[in-house]
Amino acid sequence: MNLPNYKQAMLRTKKKYQTINYEIDKKYINKFKNKTYFLKTYGCQMNEHDSENISAMIESMGFRKIDCYEDADMVILNTCSIRENAHNKAFGMLGRLKHLKQTKNSDLIIGLCGCMAQETGVVNQILKDYKFVNFVFGTHNLYQLPQIVTEAISSKKQTIEVFSKEGDLIENMPVKRDKNYKAYVNIIYGCDKFCTYCIVPYTRGSQRSRKKEDILKEVNELVKDGYKEVTLLGQNVNAYGKDLYEDYGLGELLEDVSKTNIPRIRFMTSHPWDFSDKMIEKIAACKNIMPSVHLPIQSGSSRILKLMGRRYTKENYLELFNKIKETIPNVSISTDIIVGFPQETEEDFQQTLEVAEYCKFDNAFTFIFSARENTPAARLKDDVSIETKEERLQRLNQVVNHYFLENNQKLVGTTVKVLLEGMSEKKDMYFGYTETNKLVNFTGKNKKIGDIVDVEITEAKTWSLDGKIKS
Ligand code: SAH
Ligand code: SF4
Ligand code: F3S
Repeated sequence: MNLPNYKQAMLRTKKKYQTINYEIDKKYINKFKNKTYFLKTYGCQMNEHDSENISAMIESMGFRKIDCYEDADMVILNTCSIRENAHNKAFGMLGRLKHLKQTKNSDLIIGLCGCMAQETGVVNQILKDYKFVNFVFGTHNLYQLPQIVTEAISSKKQTIEVFSKEGDLIENMPVKRDKNYKAYVNIIYGCDKFCTYCIVPYTRGSQRSRKKEDILKEVNELVKDGYKEVTLLGQNVNAYGKDLYEDYGLGELLEDVSKTNIPRIRFMTSHPWDFSDKMIEKIAACKNIMPSVHLPIQSGSSRILKLMGRRYTKENYLELFNKIKETIPNVSISTDIIVGFPQETEEDFQQTLEVAEYCKFDNAFTFIFSARENTPAARLKDDVSIETKEERLQRLNQVVNHYFLENNQKLVGTTVKVLLEGMSEKKDMYFGYTETNKLVNFTGKNKKIGDIVDVEITEAKTWSLDGKIKS
């Protein structure tokens, strides 16, 4: 048994990471033929992509995926720790699984992985009150899944295998991609920024870049397989290369990925601190790098930004924002904002509103501060009442939503390129995303998923656009 350890998870060393090739031990292949599994994923794109690796590993063991957890032989929850409600959702699901195991399926195998598995508090609770959970594994030992699942099933004992120190980089993990036209590609794991509110540096470990050759090989294979879009993933992609190369960063990588001729390249998430001029220049110059930047500001008050440990001021952010807007034609910029951080005053919040008015973001994910286990911000005295936090969130949402609509309205009458992703919920329209990452529902005929089509925008809504294919 390996339990998570907060002190170890905090450590950062100058260690150079080796690359190791994944290989599944033959004894696990098709060991569980005719068994079914259900996988539920919470959290960010990194977790979604991990789930694509998890699915591929489980399926190589013989399991078949099903969509209804009540009929499954095994259920795995790939969890997220970022805010309390992500926690609550996973624990709620564990409650339903407990009931299922007690009433209908006493042989049900239940596993939990992802960021919550890296938290001491969560694992202690599972050891004490959730004995029906068969196995827990963490973000650093995903590749051990075949062994952990097999052990848990054969030993019938609760198996907890969570490493708090990241190991080497694992290449060539099998992957069962969700879609066959757009794909996630990890470029950097972990985070060394330690923003004071954030749990990610503890759950995902040190910043580790993948070798550029491995990334380019993966993208080239995707091109060969007909993929139209890649999203380069990392908690802070702008730090790409810092731990590996002297003079090769995200700007250079974007340029090299652009040369693979994949039609669309996206990347996320960008921390304003490491956003280089080289990156801006490459996004502006390369046609297949999408003019869409996610640039979390978190707060418009420099005082709160300092308490958050974000390493930039409101002025630094706005300078970068303006440079991006001026250099990249038609760029869309989205953001993340936290309200109700401990000690945030009405004046601090007003500055956030002012910045939101100034930036007129194309999209914004807004959150109420949530105290996370063992983070510095959780130890700050929080004198902002929950009512005030909720009220601030509402006021902020009103402002940001107004600009989503206003920006969308500017597109009415224009023609934009859309990557067709499927039929919309109403079934009579296609849907897809513009180069600037806006959702469009549109009419048309004889097109297929993965086509990039010209769409004339006919109507603007707050969170989407309507249009018709231009013939
Ligand atoms: N690496 C990204 C953020 C990943 S987490 C970055 O630095 O920009 C996604 C978003 O969740 C963050 O941008 C932040 O707005 C929000 N978030 C993170 N921790 C939070 C917390 N403790 N409470 C509320 N929101 C949080
Ligand atoms: Fe969290 Fe900050 Fe790292 Fe983003 S940069 S993952 S907010 S610590
Ligand atoms: Fe959540 Fe972990 Fe992603 S905490 S947001 S799943 S890195």
